Amino acid sequence: MGEIAAIVLAAGKGTRMKSTLPKVMHRIAGRSMLGHVLDNLATLKPNRVVVVVGPEMEIVTQEAAPHPTVIQREQLGTGHAVAAAKPALGAIDGTVLVLFGDAPFVGAETMKRLAQRREAADKPAVVVLGVRPEDPGSYGRLVTDARGNLERIVEQRDATPEELEIDLCNSGVMAIDGAMLWPLVDAIENKNAKSEYYLTDIVAIAQSKGRSVAVTEADEDEIPLIGVNDRIELAEGEAICQQMLRGHALANGATMIDPASVFLSMDTRLGQDVVIGPNVVFGPGVTVADNVEIRAFCHIEGADIASGAQIGPFARLRPSSKIGANAHVGNFVETKNAVIGAGAKANHLTYLGDAKVGAKTNIGAGTITCNYDGFVKSETIIGDNVFIGSNSALVAPVTVGEGALVAAGSVVTRDVPADAMVVARGQQVEKPGWAAKFRAARQHLKKKS
Ligand code: UD1
Ligand code: CA
Repeated sequence: MGEIAAIVLAAGKGTRMKSTLPKVMHRIAGRSMLGHVLDNLATLKPNRVVVVVGPEMEIVTQEAAPHPTVIQREQLGTGHAVAAAKPALGAIDGTVLVLFGDAPFVGAETMKRLAQRREAADKPAVVVLGVRPEDPGSYGRLVTDARGNLERIVEQRDATPEELEIDLCNSGVMAIDGAMLWPLVDAIENKNAKSEYYLTDIVAIAQSKGRSVAVTEADEDEIPLIGVNDRIELAEGEAICQQMLRGHALANGATMIDPASVFLSMDTRLGQDVVIGPNVVFGPGVTVADNVEIRAFCHIEGADIASGAQIGPFARLRPSSKIGANAHVGNFVETKNAVIGAGAKANHLTYLGDAKVGAKTNIGAGTITCNYDGFVKSETIIGDNVFIGSNSALVAPVTVGEGALVAAGSVVTRDVPADAMVVARGQQVEKPGWAAKFRAARQHLKKKS
């Protein structure tokens, strides 16, 4: 294939999302819609990509990086948006793909197929990706002649009742001859219902210049959702994506007791023979090695879990958690920026933040690393084979040496040497018979009243 460039349109305000966040930044399976489009595009190894953004969309510019962005000052239509990319894209000797930032389900294979069609022997000036949605709704209609050749695209608002009967619609994705791109786009006018510059007009313009135009049709399930315009479609997109991710996870050797209740991210990596209980949520950045069991109701993000570990039920692993091989992280245990050594156990009601826990160390129920003093975060370092008794508070910065034992209920504020035993709590005071005397006195008072 020849050179491939892409223009991704992402300048629309997305009014129907009713959001201060630009539409393309809304996430599906933990990744922005623009991120989905750019990732799919990356598989084609394009020579150049330009993203068209609106004014004050710094966050979109960051998401697009390292690809350059151009700002379309006013949203005067998809044709106008493509024209805005001209200074950044320049001349292209090959094919230019135009993609929409709100169309995360246009896959890499589909993009490739479209680009290949553009480079077929008949060298069409434009290839349009056509779809036949159940409800053609507001999509542009592909108007073909008696032999099935694409003549023009008519937007729903500009269509005649006969044209509205057409079920072949514009997905929005196009592949355009690089040499023809600017002559076609420069010829677009805005004589239509919305007074916008429609990119779709380049079909008729190419025809008028004596160049051929082709349609490539997407299979029914190739693009499960064409575009996301509001939160209802966003939720539909999420459901579709989750369904796909669960399918991949199962096909690759993970067991899910109730797949429908497990939520995955695009980048969730699961090893073999991973068993996942019901109601588990994987945020972005999670890697799980082989033979890990994640029991019901866990929330996991930014975590690396080594083989044989057991997580949950009801565990919360927050970003930068590294759980060692065969370690146990049990119910109501929260970790954040914590490295848990191989075979270590923290089985109940514990917070481990900014901490290192050595191999085979046992963290008793109710242990808290006090990592924050209201201003700065500090580290707790616990060696190998340590025993931390239940209900201990480790006030960071603090180190507990290898093999040490911290007695239950301790508040540890100073470093503990290796193999030492430390008790840091009030002494037990014993008063024989005190309770019995107290009861008798109180009962006497009660009778009198
Ligand atoms: C567009 C197509 C329609 C197609 C549909 C598929 C046109 C004229 N219409 O309609 O035929 O069926 O997509 O989803 O192309 N954008 C800009 N700047 C603008 C206008 C739009 O960057 O000035 C971007 C938007 O951010 C969005 C994309 O272009 O990512 C599509 O724009 P949108 O307004 O959603 O087009 P539709 O009306 O859906
Ligand atoms: Ca749209």
